[in-house]
Amino acid sequence: MRSAPTVENDVFCPTLMASIESRLERFIHESSYSPPLKTAVGYALLGGGKRLRPLLALRCCEAVGASTIDALEAGSAVEMVHAFSLVHDDLPALDNDLMRRGKPTLHIAMGEAMAILAGDALLALALHAACSTSRDTARIAHEVTNATSAMITGQVYDTLGGFPEGVPAHERLHIIHNHKTGALIRCACRVGALCGGARSEDFATIDHWGDLIGLMFQAVDDLLDVTQSADHVGKAVGKDVDAGKLTYPSVYGIEETRQQIMRLRSDALATLETLGSRGEHLISITEFLAARTK
Ligand code: IPE
Ligand code: IPE
Ligand code: MG
Ligand code: MG
Ligand code: MG
Repeated sequence: MRSAPTVENDVFCPTLMASIESRLERFIHESSYSPPLKTAVGYALLGGGKRLRPLLALRCCEAVGASTIDALEAGSAVEMVHAFSLVHDDLPALDNDLMRRGKPTLHIAMGEAMAILAGDALLALALHAACSTSRDTARIAHEVTNATSAMITGQVYDTLGGFPEGVPAHERLHIIHNHKTGALIRCACRVGALCGGARSEDFATIDHWGDLIGLMFQAVDDLLDVTQSADHVGKAVGKDVDAGKLTYPSVYGIEETRQQIMRLRSDALATLETLGSRGEHLISITEFLAARTK
């Protein structure tokens, strides 16, 4: 059995990580934003974060038979929406968090007004990045805007509720998680496959896999909130319970949460079988995401 650091290095291939980082930097550099806004956008977007979403786009593009670099623009677009979602998620009116990726949140570092505006700027830059793709541009831009809408809908349910009467807790949990987190992860997979010119069967496989790992991702995030230290994850922990959030551990308990994660992992791995050896990197990503501790 391979040790955890090897799996991590396998998944987060340094060459791919460097290409993602430099594409993101270039989008900021070439934007027309004022210097202070560029600084704020850079603070939120660069030098931190796992880069899971662009990585998914690149690996899904490759899994359908194309080159990873074909998905750099689309993957950057999803990462920018993700960074925007984190900046706004941390604001006092939402989760009111002081630490993100091991450093002060943007509103702590540069004030609330700049954090709100930098979030807006990241969203606009994301649409610019989506429109810079060389294949299926309009479709990819739609994918990104639809997933952004779903993420915002999820954040509204997560923060303000508003479910119709009588929806049971486990259904509300799935709706929140599939929207606030699953949609962008699934989108990263879908746009990656589109950038690679996927055949319809491969697209369906990638889409289903993206749906499963998206839900699993937030289930793990909920688990880490009750099992890890803030130092380890680089953000506050133990806050979901205090805020009365609907989470996997609050609905199912810790042990059943772990089992649900294992079930999602198995379903995700089974989905990849039709890709054969082309699914190799997606298998490693699935294993990493099921076992991650930050
Ligand atoms: C954190 O996402 C927010 C959730 C959707 C749970 P990540 O864990 O991917 O955050 P970074 O990008 O690595 O910081
Ligand atoms: C984040 O959910 C979802 C979005 C940012 C859209 P959380 O609120 O659980 O994410 P963390 O734990 O702050 O990263
Ligand atoms: Mg939140
Ligand atoms: Mg939060
Ligand atoms: Mg969380």
